[in-house]
Amino acid sequence: MRKSSTLSLEAKVAAAAGAVLLSMAIARNLMSERFDINVRATLYRVQFLLFINSFMLLGSLFVWRRIASAVILGAKPPSPWLYQAWRAGVLLFLLLTHSSFLTLFYLVAEEPHALSRVVRLDITLDKLPRSLDGLKIVLLSDIHLGSTVGRSRLDLIVSIVNRLEADLVAITGDLADSQVSRLLSASEPLLGMKSKLGSYFVTGNHDYYTADVEAWFAHLRALNIQALHNDHARISQPGQKSDWLCLAGVDDLEARILRYPGHGMNVAKALEGCSPDRPIVLLAHQPRAARWALQERPDIGLVLSGHTHAGQIFPLSIMAYLLNPYFCGLYRVGDSSLVYVSPGTAHYGIPMRIGSRAEVTEILLRAP
Ligand SMILES: [Fe+2]
Repeated sequence: MRKSSTLSLEAKVAAAAGAVLLSMAIARNLMSERFDINVRATLYRVQFLLFINSFMLLGSLFVWRRIASAVILGAKPPSPWLYQAWRAGVLLFLLLTHSSFLTLFYLVAEEPHALSRVVRLDITLDKLPRSLDGLKIVLLSDIHLGSTVGRSRLDLIVSIVNRLEADLVAITGDLADSQVSRLLSASEPLLGMKSKLGSYFVTGNHDYYTADVEAWFAHLRALNIQALHNDHARISQPGQKSDWLCLAGVDDLEARILRYPGHGMNVAKALEGCSPDRPIVLLAHQPRAARWALQERPDIGLVLSGHTHAGQIFPLSIMAYLLNPYFCGLYRVGDSSLVYVSPGTAHYGIPMRIGSRAEVTEILLRAP
């Protein structure tokens, strides 16, 4: 007669976690230095990976049984297809959570270089004067200084920008996730960022979540970065003042939703004084803002945006793709306008990207 097992799956997993913990204690106390340091380091990492994953498995089993099997999609039972899709979504989430600890082995040496590549593109801009042919804009977006992006990452980004010898640096929003006073040290590398004709910033939705935008503007001014708060700057080469380009910037769309005092996207105000025979480059954080700005002013030659992170982590990309009119990369709009959406220079929250890459964008403007 077959004897049924008396231990539940949870108890077995807990026992496995205990066994791994014991092996960790033994290895750390009894492995002599005769073993090569790389062997020991690899063993410690494997043990930690097994321990943390078996421990997490207890939670995952709970999640799977209570959430994946539960009918949460309304009072009526959903269709089998929808139910299977829901279970697949939960399974994918659990797999990603468990596999995230594989970064103990990968991306250790490469990070953060692998996450900040340079993408170069040439853009022909109508009405661009000859003296500005070859003007180099380095585009940064969605750095999200905060809990998981700090001084060392910003240091690396600034060193990449300086190597590119930019004429202009454009930061299209979501620079920070907290107040200036908490990010003074983290933001300090920006003081060393070089650009021949200036560095400019527009707000993103997260900058408004800090509730400290005015202080950020003042702080950025001290770091030699000018905020374009529904405003523009005339960009020209030294000694060629009459050959200028209008670099404009608008507040993020959410300023209005949040009723942030004195803020709100205003294209007309940003472009007031930009003569129609000058090329216009607009900085607007969200692709939706880019679309609305082009509907209002089809004479804008180029809009630089960010916000989507190209989804950052698959399958969030699907949502980001569906919610934004432009997702990532270069888009032609109408006869003579272009929109470039940066996938972001760093990341938000979890320091992870799946199916998307962070970038610093190097844009060379060409005269027609
Ligand atoms: Fe954003």
